[in-house]
Amino acid sequence: MKRGILVLVAFVAAVSLTAMAADEKVPATKEIMAKGNKGALPKISAAAKSGKLEGVADAAKQLKAYGEALGKNKPKKGEAASWEKLTAAYKENTAAIADGVEKKDAKAVATAAAAINKSCGACHGAHK
Ligand code: HEC
Repeated sequence: MKRGILVLVAFVAAVSLTAMAADEKVPATKEIMAKGNKGALPKISAAAKSGKLEGVADAAKQLKAYGEALGKNKPKKGEAASWEKLTAAYKENTAAIADGVEKKDAKAVATAAAAINKSCGACHGAHK
């Protein structure tokens, strides 16, 4: 019995440590905006327009990781349901960009990038 409790305690401690470590890795919203939306995204958009996607593989991977992270952060203001919906769309579009870059599909990349570029204002209006 005692041993069972010890094992359980060790297990819970390990799980919470893992959760903490995972939390620490989530980049802040400001970083995602500065390095993702103002850094990687315009670079990728320009590459898609000129049809030269070779140089933006790393930027696309980074942007996809940001897309997965954004929804894990809390917005400064606004409804949780709205944040969930907007960050889910952001995640989907950043994943579509990474996918398009991998497949060298400039049109798909341009379409997904345009969708994100159209969404800046709506999200800022509600949550910034
Ligand atoms: C899903 C929501 C969402 C989308 C989409 C979004 N943003 Fe943001 N953005 C935010 C939030 C929330 C903040 C406020 C962050 C803070 O101050 O902590 C912000 C802040 C910013 C900032 C200020 C960063 C700073 O250091 O204070 C810039 C620049 C920015 N966004 C650019 C963009 C651009 C460009 C786009 C579109 C290509 C975009 N964002 C799309 C949510 C979003």
